[in-house]
Amino acid sequence: MEDGCTGNRSFLPAGFRPGTSRSHRHECHNPRNATGCMTLLYKTHRITPSRLFRAYTITVNMSAQTNTRVKLNDGASIPVVGFGAGTALFGKENVQVIKKALSTGYRYLDGAQMYKNSESIGTALKESGVKRDDVFILTKLGKDGASSDEIEPRRVLQEELKKLQTDHVDLFLIHNPFYVGDRGLAGTWAVMEELVKEGLTRSIGVSNFREEDLLELEKTWKIKPAVNQIEFHPYLFHAANVQRLLALQKKHDIKVQSYGPQTPLFRVPGGPVDPVAERVAKEQGLTPGQVLLLWAHQYTGGVVVTTSRDDGRQQEQLDAFKHSLTQEQVDAISEAGRGKFYRHFMAVVWDHAKP
Ligand SMILES: NC(=O)c1ccc[n+]([C@@H]2O[C@H](COP(=O)([O-])OP(=O)(O)OC[C@H]3O[C@@H](n4cnc5c(N)ncnc54)[C@H](OP(=O)(O)O)[C@@H]3O)[C@@H](O)[C@H]2O)c1
Repeated sequence: MEDGCTGNRSFLPAGFRPGTSRSHRHECHNPRNATGCMTLLYKTHRITPSRLFRAYTITVNMSAQTNTRVKLNDGASIPVVGFGAGTALFGKENVQVIKKALSTGYRYLDGAQMYKNSESIGTALKESGVKRDDVFILTKLGKDGASSDEIEPRRVLQEELKKLQTDHVDLFLIHNPFYVGDRGLAGTWAVMEELVKEGLTRSIGVSNFREEDLLELEKTWKIKPAVNQIEFHPYLFHAANVQRLLALQKKHDIKVQSYGPQTPLFRVPGGPVDPVAERVAKEQGLTPGQVLLLWAHQYTGGVVVTTSRDDGRQQEQLDAFKHSLTQEQVDAISEAGRGKFYRHFMAVVWDHAKP
């Protein structure tokens, strides 16, 4: 994570000796947590605050509350929370909702060829008055039952760019490992790598990839995927094949983009996570939904993708990232999640996964 502030990471570089330099800089984007950052640095490295201050310049950025970004393995960075045009908006053009999301403060819009609503994103962005360069735009390759021609990466991205009214996207993903047609994974990825060189997309990544898919891609990739966008919440993180996937992603610094993060609360309510999320919500002055957004971010160190048609809830989602859970709270939610397994999306992929 680029700017820390989650209270569970060390910010000092390896080999750092306290008091030897003032060149290290940590910018705290979470005013509420500045003291937490200091305490953590102090505890982790057992150095006094005065020596710490000599070594480290800590600034508090009051205006960056919803601009927290996560650094990707290719040097780019992405806002920590994205607004999805799938699920609730799937297949529906809805300029007004996306405009609301932009005016509420969302700066990452998550689209896909399959969602059939990229024109809404383009129109909403244009009408919102927000500058293109201030918004992170993601789209994904592939749709059900498509011929190899219909999912040719260059053609799809060019069509998406027209709909999005832009000359490049920030991130282009393979939507699932089966949406590659005759080109296969290696052939599809090779074209995606060319699209980076051609400037049509800044970064490339994958979605709904299992460990075995990443291992397959690893044989030929020249550019590593920057992200893997997967269903991620407390009811599935503990599965053995998800844990192996996370370990492989960590090895290559492939960030997790968690979608469906609130699934325990709204898709399968009444499970063991509910009371713990409610307890933590009370302790933090948040809603249980906000708590699960933070859990997904803090457990993975990655990005969260959510959505809402309601501007009050959109604001709530963004506001969540002004807070951070304690390690005890993260662990309590994980522990409760281990009591149940539930996967809502992409059975077509995971039914074929190694256990
Ligand atoms: N790569 C993939 O294959 C894939 C698959 C699925 C999703 N995604 C991406 O991830 C995005 C978000 O996914 P998600 O919808 O699963 O995220 P989520 O955060 O798990 O759920 C968001 C949904 O929860 C509802 N919700 C929030 N608070 C609620 C409350 N208090 N009571 C009742 N309902 C509440 C919202 O409804 P309201 O509108 O009423 O607020 C919204 O529809 C998608 O739009 C898409 O961009 C990607």
